[in-house]
Amino acid sequence: MNYSIDQLQTLADEAVSMGRKCSDGANADYIPFLASVPSHLCALSIVTCDGNVVHSGDADYRFAIESISKVPSLALAMEQKGAEMVRTKIGAEPTGLPFNSVLALVAHKDKPLSPLVNAGAMATVSFLDAPDKEARWQMILDFQRRIMSANVSLSDDINTSEQDTNFHNRGIAWLLYAAGNCFSDPMEACEVYTRQCSTLVTCDDLATLAGTLANNGTNPVTGEKIISPQNIAPILAEMTMEGLYDYSGDWAFLVGLPGKSGVGGGVLAVVPGQMAIAGFSPPLDEAGNSVRAQLMIRYIANKLNLNVY
Ligand code: DON
Repeated sequence: MNYSIDQLQTLADEAVSMGRKCSDGANADYIPFLASVPSHLCALSIVTCDGNVVHSGDADYRFAIESISKVPSLALAMEQKGAEMVRTKIGAEPTGLPFNSVLALVAHKDKPLSPLVNAGAMATVSFLDAPDKEARWQMILDFQRRIMSANVSLSDDINTSEQDTNFHNRGIAWLLYAAGNCFSDPMEACEVYTRQCSTLVTCDDLATLAGTLANNGTNPVTGEKIISPQNIAPILAEMTMEGLYDYSGDWAFLVGLPGKSGVGGGVLAVVPGQMAIAGFSPPLDEAGNSVRAQLMIRYIANKLNLNVY
């Protein structure tokens, strides 16, 4: 690696001070809990492939992983079934529409197209081999802990807030099921998917998740091998196409790194073979991506010339 830890720390500090100056965006409010998270929170973490962790800002704050949970579950499905089965059963195309779009689904015979939109993520959860709901959930939680850290845990407050209001996702799950594209009971898939979105993580945890992808499937902090190397490229391809939803094209154009966002305010980016960068701040843009996290990651990617294209 061509960068010293001191250099990365300076860049992380600069990125956070720049991020804090931006006042654009608004917290997600369709999940009541997320509307109550303090909007001023702002953090940035970098995890290098040799296991160094650098962070700045509110790096200890634990927030909801939300859609970033779609990445570990996709990896788990690929480990169990192989990448090709995931592509044929769930899809590998950008939808060009919002993350919870019913239009994207019905326009394609109720096939999700991508495991990184809500429909595809519920199909992915349903695709995992599990004898029952609790085993399905435990498998996902264990995987989140291995790819991030043992501190990852379910928030009862967030989970309750989401389960009590997830009518739209329940509708999507039934559409999937009616078309033969949900591989378990649809309400089980929706409930477990909602739990996987409701775990609490830190910005370091997200950078470790992305760092595992950057490090060819081995968690750079714990040294544990989590994902088979042959599944890394298809995961990064999915992230490039749909990681930031209908803003993924602009993100590829402006930043040039596979990324993933969540409506909890987290965004992560993978620099294959080198490092991972994660940002956190609750206010979101129209597509549901943290405004400050995007700005901070873009700042570092541009400073270090990390664009993979
Ligand atoms: O299912 C939902 O709508 C949320 N639990 C997660 C959506 C999300 O994070 C979209 N990302 N930017």
